[in-house]
Amino acid sequence: MSLFVLVIVAVLWQCHTASSQEDSGYYIAAVYEHRVMLNPNPSDVCSRQEALEHMSKNLEIFEEQATEAAKQGAQIIVFPEDGIQGFNFTRRSIQGYVESIPDPKSVTWSPCLHPQRFPNTEVLHRLSCVARNNRMYLVANMPDQQECNHSDPHCPPDGRYIFNTDVVFRDDGTLIAKYHKQNLYFEAAFDTPPEYEHVTFDTPFAGKFGIFTCFDILFYEPSITLIEKYKVKQIVYPTAWMNQLPLLSAIQIQQSFATAFGLNFLAANIHRIDLNMTGSGIYTPSHSVHHYDADTEEGRLLVTKVPVLTNSGDGSFKSNVWDVSSLQSHPQSSFCVNRDQECVGPSIPRLESAQAPSSTFHAIMMYDNYTFVPLVETQGDLTVCDGCFCCRVTYQRTNDISELYSLGAFNGLHTVHGIYYLEVCALVKCADSSWESCGEGVTEAESSLDFHLQGNFTTPYIFPQILASEMQLATPDSMGWDRGSYIMSKKSMSGGLVTAALYGRVYERDHKPV
Ligand SMILES: *[C@@H]1O[C@H](CO)[C@@H](O)[C@H](O)[C@H]1NC(C)=O
Ligand SMILES: *[C@@H]1O[C@H](CO)[C@@H](O)[C@H](O)[C@H]1NC(C)=O
Ligand SMILES: *[C@@H]1O[C@H](CO)[C@@H](O)[C@H](O)[C@H]1NC(C)=O
Ligand SMILES: *[C@@H]1O[C@H](CO)[C@@H](O)[C@H](O)[C@H]1NC(C)=O
Ligand SMILES: *[C@@H]1O[C@H](CO)[C@@H](O)[C@H](O)[C@H]1NC(C)=O
Repeated sequence: MSLFVLVIVAVLWQCHTASSQEDSGYYIAAVYEHRVMLNPNPSDVCSRQEALEHMSKNLEIFEEQATEAAKQGAQIIVFPEDGIQGFNFTRRSIQGYVESIPDPKSVTWSPCLHPQRFPNTEVLHRLSCVARNNRMYLVANMPDQQECNHSDPHCPPDGRYIFNTDVVFRDDGTLIAKYHKQNLYFEAAFDTPPEYEHVTFDTPFAGKFGIFTCFDILFYEPSITLIEKYKVKQIVYPTAWMNQLPLLSAIQIQQSFATAFGLNFLAANIHRIDLNMTGSGIYTPSHSVHHYDADTEEGRLLVTKVPVLTNSGDGSFKSNVWDVSSLQSHPQSSFCVNRDQECVGPSIPRLESAQAPSSTFHAIMMYDNYTFVPLVETQGDLTVCDGCFCCRVTYQRTNDISELYSLGAFNGLHTVHGIYYLEVCALVKCADSSWESCGEGVTEAESSLDFHLQGNFTTPYIFPQILASEMQLATPDSMGWDRGSYIMSKKSMSGGLVTAALYGRVYERDHKPV
């Protein structure tokens, strides 16, 4: 098969004085969106030899891409979740694919230099050599099997754990970290690790990185603990993410995570358009280089310069609204804790000029029942509430297109394909000319709309996102806390507005009945 390797090299960091910026302020990162070659019958048991032959096809591409990335100067490369073996295995059928990965905390081992030290470690050997031969840190994902004792109450009946695992190799091929995915997403072959794992690794070029996988991005453990307790400012993120519009396509959630926490985020997704998997990127708090391609069958290598983020001052959370374009190295996070009791928090101020609330309606968005208010005028100021959680938008249409938009609020437990509590304000373009279609996925829009969106969230964990026509991401002009509300504003977008949302996660209510 022919492989188009498209390399994007972009300079993310604009320095104010051309001469003053040291090269040590940057590093070069790569992520590879891989068109994984799948086992056509993932539930059939196959031999180790057959499994190795299958995985070899994917590993060959990893090798080529790492070599290409090295030519571009990459110091670290991230490959996607399930990129070596694929997915949809059962516990039995994955057996040929597993290796027992020694714990890098207790064993110092370069598989490339000492391939015979541990048996049955061909994949580790190959990855280690790719890292070593290209002199770069390498992050990949593979299954790890660990025997367990029945004295361990979590030990599966067959006496072994099989974990969905990220592995990290230093640029000399040494295995330096492994992380077992915590939040599985319909992965029958894998076990949930018995304890939360907070895994970090150090690099000479950018200091500490944290690591987690795919669905983990929506949960407190381990991602938020890595940021709040371990103070990581760079994340490597292998994923196999199925896009779901309007709020949860891969690039939306990846970018909003980097923006929300003010960190660098290196995300590698699988490329399978038949499974709606595409969307990878290298994100800094204010800029991103990303890739989304729902049309072709090609993988994509992204290579870019990334600023090393320095810890600012005392590392305390910034509470006020900040101007995103002025950002150089902004504090750890724009989250300011406002954990007032439910319904006793600050209310959203009403403007004298506010329109009388138009009739609200309900529509399902991504399986959740949103309360919507329609944007019927060319400009306006609207508020919509779900219980005591309220969202408000002031907006102005700046062209003459008559597409339908509405503002939705949702405050509740999401229970389909995962259980997680949400507070969401979402300004969405409706899919067609009926209000019932608001909340359905769309990718095209022609309307220009300047807006100021806000919500009185009870959670500090807000993920701001703006999606423009044709899956373009936009960066807010400003965002942050203003007198108890979280706000986000944007003017003069270059593309039509598809979705502008403040996606709030209330982690502590995930398991409580509503
Ligand atoms: C994996 O399984 C799910 C449900 O069982 C199915 O919808 C999906 O198409 C499968 N994917 C592959 C790659 O076989
Ligand atoms: C299981 O328990 C035995 C006895 O306590 C111990 O020697 C062995 O190392 C344990 N195995 C594992 C995989 O923990
Ligand atoms: C991909 O997304 C489209 C549009 O949202 C949907 O109709 C289709 O079922 C999805 N495919 C898979 C495999 O989930
Ligand atoms: C949000 O604002 C509304 C209306 O301004 C108010 O009634 C409600 O109590 C507020 N909710 C919270 C959680 O602060
Ligand atoms: C959404 O919630 C409203 C108000 O609780 C209810 O009347 C409506 O039936 C719900 N819609 C669906 C589809 O469940």
